Amino acid sequence: MDWGMKNRMGRIFKEDGHSVMLALDHGYFLGPVSRLEDPQKTIEPLIPYVDSLMLTRGILRNCINAKYNIPVILRASGGNSILDEDLSREAITLSLQEAVRLNACAVALSIYVGAPHQHQTLVNLASLINEAENYGIPVLAVTAVGKELEKRDAKYLSLACRIAAELGARAVKTYYCEDFHKIVESCPVPVVIAGGPKMKSELDVLEIAYNAIARGAKGVDMGRNIWQSRWPKAMASAIRSIVHEKASYKKASELFESLKDKEK
Ligand code: R5P
Repeated sequence: MDWGMKNRMGRIFKEDGHSVMLALDHGYFLGPVSRLEDPQKTIEPLIPYVDSLMLTRGILRNCINAKYNIPVILRASGGNSILDEDLSREAITLSLQEAVRLNACAVALSIYVGAPHQHQTLVNLASLINEAENYGIPVLAVTAVGKELEKRDAKYLSLACRIAAELGARAVKTYYCEDFHKIVESCPVPVVIAGGPKMKSELDVLEIAYNAIARGAKGVDMGRNIWQSRWPKAMASAIRSIVHEKASYKKASELFESLKDKEK
């Protein structure tokens, strides 16, 4: 691995090899989702608690002050909206020159394995990797399921993660599921988990994060279950304790409960 690639991977995955990424890219197909209507207001208070921000160039440029020394993972695919029946019809939406201009530490692209536009999204991934490797920029592949949330099982996600790694993704983002260890064991690059739609209880999210790390995930790239919580800072801290401090589910839950009382 060349110096630039190593350095960027090391800025995202810290010395312990783990990472807390804050996912904020939802607007690229969902528009102004709840709590991201004013991105700056939601994002800025959380910056001290996370290792990187995953977002689109539009939100980065317009809503994040360039003074922050936080690694940025830029979304590089899109072209659809929640109004589409089939969300898999994506193209590459970001050039590597733009990624460099915006000082991106990584770029992220969704693949839709088994969906109508599987081929297009896998070729998108390969093309982005071919370009990004020239600049020493890691590509994070996102194993998207669109509206078919029931697809999230170990058999399907292992297939999608492995294909992403085979095509050259430097890291993969997927979902937690039963038998999660099987996904990690058959994927030769770091795996991080998304959170998915907001769950009923913050403690359920902490349990999933704990189980994922215990079964080999290298971190999280979570969004709604952090910033749609009534206590986003407490959530980010508790997740952080699991990812970086080897906190048990019990310890992380206690931390969350104690911090939530202090958060306005
Ligand atoms: C999809 O909208 C994006 O790739 C998100 O970054 C991803 O789903 C993670 O965010 P969340 O934890 O809210 O699912």
